[in-house]
Amino acid sequence: MRVNWHQKLHIEPPEGWLNDPNGLSYFNGKYHVYFQYSPGSAEGKTPRCWGHYSGKSLLDLTYEGIVLQPTIHEDKDGVYSGSAVVWNSLLHIFYTGNVKEEGDYDYIYHGRGANVIHVTSKDGQAMSEKQVVLRNSDYPDFCSCHVRDPKVWRQNDTWYMVLGARTRDDKGCVLFYRSNDLKTWDYFCCTSAEGYGYMWECPDYFKINGHAFLSVSPQGMASETDRYQNLYQSGYFRADDGLTDFTELDMGFDFYAPQTFEAPDGRRILLGWMGMDCKDYQNATVPLGWQHCMTLPRVLTVSGDGHLLQNPIRELDALRHDGQQLQAGTRATFSPAFELNGKPEGDFKVSLAGGLAFGYDGNYMYLKFSNDRLGCGRTVRRARVDECRDFRMIVDCSSVEVYINGGRTVMSTRFYPQSEKVSVLAEGTTLEVWQLTSA
Ligand code: FRU
Repeated sequence: MRVNWHQKLHIEPPEGWLNDPNGLSYFNGKYHVYFQYSPGSAEGKTPRCWGHYSGKSLLDLTYEGIVLQPTIHEDKDGVYSGSAVVWNSLLHIFYTGNVKEEGDYDYIYHGRGANVIHVTSKDGQAMSEKQVVLRNSDYPDFCSCHVRDPKVWRQNDTWYMVLGARTRDDKGCVLFYRSNDLKTWDYFCCTSAEGYGYMWECPDYFKINGHAFLSVSPQGMASETDRYQNLYQSGYFRADDGLTDFTELDMGFDFYAPQTFEAPDGRRILLGWMGMDCKDYQNATVPLGWQHCMTLPRVLTVSGDGHLLQNPIRELDALRHDGQQLQAGTRATFSPAFELNGKPEGDFKVSLAGGLAFGYDGNYMYLKFSNDRLGCGRTVRRARVDECRDFRMIVDCSSVEVYINGGRTVMSTRFYPQSEKVSVLAEGTTLEVWQLTSA
């Protein structure tokens, strides 16, 4: 019997390949989650489109189909990432139309078009004509051809857009534009920081409790033992006064290109791509015709010392049933999805499915694979913390996300259990276990 690796709580593509979350919004009484979609190719080889999920609960969304695909010269090689805002009863979507000109180009400094395209929708599903609002010739001269992923928001009666970019001298930065009507956009500044790679993708700017944050996904940062361990990174700067304190959003193997939006009750909610376009490790679902998923929706709050805390949205708590204690040293098996909560008082280790260990060794939180069928090339990821006071681990059919110390540190990974039930053995801590869905 084949093990079911289809997720119960996480958004997946109906088939084919999924990457970045796009156009996150609440519109006409429903949540809308769009995503970068390569239909028909688990390896992401067909031109990118936008797929669409919607529903009344972020944990119970329905797949609605493909809503945007390449149809004009300005997006002929992909409807790339972007965002959505609601204005005057319409959903306004801004995305990057990717163009690769025919010829012998490097596609970095020459030969690539990156157009900001605007469409509107009355229902989130049917889209208007495409209007190109920015082209490469509109970007500052210091930019290479890599400028993309518009994120739009409204502040004090003005619309703002941030775009990720690579300068001609290979530095990641973001460009800020503003507009009064969502149609004409004026460039007004660029911001960057030394030492954060050659390209910043998927920028997002938002405020929580009056504190400003700029989140970006930098490419080209050198890996260290306990930082920047993946091929590409995702993190945030505090942006109240310049860009300071870059902090990675997730210390696991599979996380990139997050986007946030404001829910109707004011919560700032983040979804990330629980994936990485990295040759060192794979996903066992590719031969089955699909690959990748999103993270759980995470609510963002700010700690007393100005750091972002990420925790699963509270809607997840309502799914809990059949709670039980698992004593240290006792092994038991559970059907995903389930969660494990611990309040350790020192070093501890939780072993899952006979080959994935999560724990604290006095210096580092770690996720460590000892069975390659489970990890498909994944080895170890570390996060330095002074102590581990609490953790909440969400185990779905092929993923594990751990929220540590009230959500200050998060580690996410895909894993591919070889049996339907996942064995759990905790050493050095008692666990509180909850089923999150029926088997
Ligand atoms: C990030 C990214 C974006 C781009 C999209 C294309 O994963 O490379 O910069 O818009 O994916 O799918």
